[in-house]
Amino acid sequence: MTTHHLDTRLVHIGAAEFDPKTGTAPVSIPAIRTSTVRFENLAMLDRALAKRAAGERVVTYGIAGLDTHRALEEVFMQLEGGTYCVLAPSGLAAISIAFLALLQTGDHMLVADCVYGPVRTVDQTLLSRLGISVTYFSSPEQIAELVQPNTKMIYVESPGSLLFEMLDMPALAKISQRHGLILATDNTWGSGYIYKPLALGADVSIVAGTKYIAGHSDVMLGAIIAKDDKIAARIHATQYALGNSLSADDAWLSLRGVKTMAVRMAQHARNTQEVSEFLDARPEVVQIFNPAWHKDRGHALWQRDCTGANGMLAIELNCSALAAKPFVDALTLFGIGFSWGGFESLVQWVNPAVLANHAYWRGNDHALIRLHIGLESPSDLINDLTQAFSKIQST
Ligand SMILES: Cc1ncc(COP(=O)(O)O)c(C=O)c1O
Repeated sequence: MTTHHLDTRLVHIGAAEFDPKTGTAPVSIPAIRTSTVRFENLAMLDRALAKRAAGERVVTYGIAGLDTHRALEEVFMQLEGGTYCVLAPSGLAAISIAFLALLQTGDHMLVADCVYGPVRTVDQTLLSRLGISVTYFSSPEQIAELVQPNTKMIYVESPGSLLFEMLDMPALAKISQRHGLILATDNTWGSGYIYKPLALGADVSIVAGTKYIAGHSDVMLGAIIAKDDKIAARIHATQYALGNSLSADDAWLSLRGVKTMAVRMAQHARNTQEVSEFLDARPEVVQIFNPAWHKDRGHALWQRDCTGANGMLAIELNCSALAAKPFVDALTLFGIGFSWGGFESLVQWVNPAVLANHAYWRGNDHALIRLHIGLESPSDLINDLTQAFSKIQST
């Protein structure tokens, strides 16, 4: 199966086994819900325990999940090119598990200033209480100066969460190796489908499967993917200690969602291109932030490191953040919401206070609006944006 194209593998992972008695099978594996794992006899239990001691994924209790979870782990490993995967009940849970697994009291971590906002909350609440310190950086060139004797990890997100700035992952990997650090990245944007940080030198990739993997805005899901057995063992042990568990139904919905990921991603990217061409011609739009867009500052890195695009972009408007509020409220096809990666279009009015933390932002008092371009007809989305732009002019 590994020789097949990734699109083929995504369709076939999690196919149900044939029933030996009837020779039949449903197409998809069912959601195997269980807390208790029953053993036929003690000899079978002993065999399972011995296999587990030898490092095999053997389940003796429901917390890690049975075949449905196993299939979803396989999806993430195939997407990211990793050898280990730990599932989590949300993307943020996956981020926190990784931090707790790879850092301890007295450690220091360097974090890119463009990461998913709530990481700062994890820093200010959990990490600071544990005596783990964090320094934010805006470009890889700053790292050599910022590394401390107790620095253990670099945590990034590429492209960034609000402005989609491309980071040079191979350069970061080199710097991280030079200083003996772990390089971990949020890869929700690429989700292993259009961007593969592990192949570019990262040690750990974290994905909020809530977005493009599940793809239908109805599941919370996280995954941590690694290739090094020592790093993976620490992540496994921490996930076990925290007792985090993903419901079989959510694992099943995610398996179902990922089967159409290839076509969804391609369509999101096509629609985004069409909407971007419209936005580029609008007098209200100063700049489009999306590395797949030919005028974006990160376009060359995107061309080098990515194999595709998705539905995410942000626009700088030539009005204040306040003046952009009626534009957001006037949109009818774009839901006002923080998420993305589902089939539907979304809009986020970005709070200027949040942008103050992002060195990449040069828009000063201008509004920044983040859009997720969904699977609606782009012409309907363009009509909706056109009528909403008129609301800015009338304020
Ligand atoms: C880039 C990124 N990473 C992580 C997360 C967290 O994922 P979840 O919502 O599943 O906790 C999000 C959520 O919006 C995100 O945008």
